[in-house]
Amino acid sequence: MTTTAQEKCWRVRRMPDGAVTAGIEPLGWDPAASMANDDVVVRVEAAGFNYKDALCSAGHPGVMRMSPLVPGIDAAGVVAAPAASLAAGTPVLVTGNGMGEVRDGGFASFLRMPAAAVLPRPASLAADAAMALGTAGLTALLACDRLEAIVSPRHATSDEAWLVTGASGGVGMLSVAALAAAGRRVVACSRKASATDVLRALGAAEVVTPDAIRDPTPKSLVTGRWAGVVDTVGGPLLAEVLRGVCAGGGVAAIGMAGGSDLVTSVHPFILRGVTLAGIDAASLPTQAKRALLWERLASFWPAIAGRFPVTRLRLEEVGDWADRMRRGETTGRGVVIPE
Ligand SMILES: NC(=O)c1ccc[n+]([C@@H]2O[C@H](COP(=O)([O-])OP(=O)(O)OC[C@H]3O[C@@H](n4cnc5c(N)ncnc54)[C@H](OP(=O)(O)O)[C@@H]3O)[C@@H](O)[C@H]2O)c1
Repeated sequence: MTTTAQEKCWRVRRMPDGAVTAGIEPLGWDPAASMANDDVVVRVEAAGFNYKDALCSAGHPGVMRMSPLVPGIDAAGVVAAPAASLAAGTPVLVTGNGMGEVRDGGFASFLRMPAAAVLPRPASLAADAAMALGTAGLTALLACDRLEAIVSPRHATSDEAWLVTGASGGVGMLSVAALAAAGRRVVACSRKASATDVLRALGAAEVVTPDAIRDPTPKSLVTGRWAGVVDTVGGPLLAEVLRGVCAGGGVAAIGMAGGSDLVTSVHPFILRGVTLAGIDAASLPTQAKRALLWERLASFWPAIAGRFPVTRLRLEEVGDWADRMRRGETTGRGVVIPE
């Protein structure tokens, strides 16, 4: 394995006084000397940028559980030296498993992970394509599968509306594409008029703003409009959407970009049999399940690759992208290329 003194990472530090600093630093460990125990050293070719990484970059204590820390909950690359049953050069993927939360993540030239956390990468997925999908893609598939399981078969017809909130984000766009590919009539809800054309190209039948779906009626239930919902926003928008889910409908709760409090009533659940299902892509799926999901994502990618917005970022651009992501200004997926 060839390494250089320039191996680097983007590291966040929380100071004793609570101040947070972040920036490019030397990697701080020698990849060539680090094949301890069953650790696999991965040369990172691309790392997906997730909302958690934006929170970590600001030192959010719910994500950044140690300091200093390299963010990056997703990485793709190649095995740097033979380890476990993996030959040097094997294309691999690592997602979740504490990366970017309790151990250093993918915004670095090299990454060390236990062999059990490392998956072979599907042959057709280049590292940057894999990271355009990343945890956002896994989450979108988990949410769509969950909705298929909980939404009443009475909503199986293709004229029922399925809503995706935060639709211009990574999870949102991939959920729009996955539901549309499954034959659903998708209504994409986004605050960004600029995302309309892309969302339509990915399969949305309609693009609406959060204001447009807000019902002024001050009741705990309003006319049922949504058979299924993928919600990436949480907070008041999720509470609003719950009032308008059809009898037998379901909501997959994924995110909290718009708030983590949920002020609602039991009426959607006990008067309409609505199911609110939580999705946890970071820790619940087993490695075997992740491998199956990656095979599905690899098959899905060619159908959306030309239409899905991906922004390639250098390590130097991580801080700026994180700031914009926390302000809800990014569209599609950022992919860090730590050359
Ligand atoms: N449960 C899980 O396993 C899991 C996995 C991955 C991600 N997540 C969570 O899912 C959420 C989305 O992740 P992501 O990677 O797709 O992030 P993202 O790319 O930043 O997308 C989030 C989207 O939410 C909307 N938004 C942002 N701030 C908002 C605000 N203040 N009020 C209302 N809407 C706002 C924006 O969409 P519009 O401008 O189009 O409205 C934004 O594009 C995050 O909360 C993330 O932590 C959870």
